Amino acid sequence: MSSGIEQSELPEGLQEIFRLDGQRAVVTGAASGLGKMIALGFAHFGADVACLDIDQEGARATEEEISNLGHKSLALQVDVRDWESVLSSVQEVEAWAGGVDIVVNVPGINQRKPVLELEPEEFSEVLELNLKGLFHCAKAYGELMVSARRGKIINMASVLGLIAMERQAAYASSKGAVVQLTKVLALEFAPHNVQVNALAPGYFTTPLVRQIMEDEAWYQDVVGRIAQGRFGEPWEIIGPAVFLASRASSFVTGTTLIIDGGWTAA
Ligand SMILES: NC(=O)c1ccc[n+]([C@@H]2O[C@H](COP(=O)([O-])OP(=O)(O)OC[C@H]3O[C@@H](n4cnc5c(N)ncnc54)[C@H](O)[C@@H]3O)[C@@H](O)[C@H]2O)c1
Repeated sequence: MSSGIEQSELPEGLQEIFRLDGQRAVVTGAASGLGKMIALGFAHFGADVACLDIDQEGARATEEEISNLGHKSLALQVDVRDWESVLSSVQEVEAWAGGVDIVVNVPGINQRKPVLELEPEEFSEVLELNLKGLFHCAKAYGELMVSARRGKIINMASVLGLIAMERQAAYASSKGAVVQLTKVLALEFAPHNVQVNALAPGYFTTPLVRQIMEDEAWYQDVVGRIAQGRFGEPWEIIGPAVFLASRASSFVTGTTLIIDGGWTAA
């Protein structure tokens, strides 16, 4: 009896497996930083993109850039911490595109303080956005994908969800939880043909890390740990995000992809 291995054939259109033509993507946190890059990157690879953000003006600016590329785009003001706000965004996106193929959950904040100086409310504030906001979107959009029996969910974790660092109690806790939530979602949604993965960036030059970049000693300390000796440029998140959003990752689920210039290889 043949094992079938020698009969394996390359799929049709192999060179197109990273393309996102005709895909309907939702990117939360699309007004700024890595979310904006991912939204623009998806459009360059052929997707129509709904840009969701609490910052309405910023979301509109990203929408305009995508429309200028000749793709359909929609800007929605959404507070991902608010379950009702997320649910009404699902309705608006459905009315706009008739469904969703890709969701990227991006918004995140940090409170860089030692535990002894971190107020309980500050801890909750970080968890509320980084973890619960992401849960809201994964649940609401996941339900849509499960019933359509297709979809890709990408959650924004961080290297600090995998390793620890001083002054990162709230942030590292939230991102560690995102890594675990991603695995649970992957297991629950796999039978419904929905893949769920996470991105774990190291340091990228976005507004979120301004505090570090403005402190020379802190910046040198951080950059000294990165094998490639620099922060990532925001556009460098696009390749990994497109990989996880596209057919190129059709057998990848429950994983966290590290993009850190070799920081955690040491
Ligand atoms: N920049 C980095 O070096 C880095 C490294 C690792 C992980 N990350 C993660 O990547 C993600 C994006 O980081 P960034 O640097 O691009 O940040 P950013 O501050 O530039 O962008 C965050 C976006 O989220 C939006 N947002 C904030 N609260 C929201 C809410 N309640 N509802 C909807 N939108 C909201 C903001 O308006 C903003 O547009 C975060 O989850 C962050 O933890 C960033």
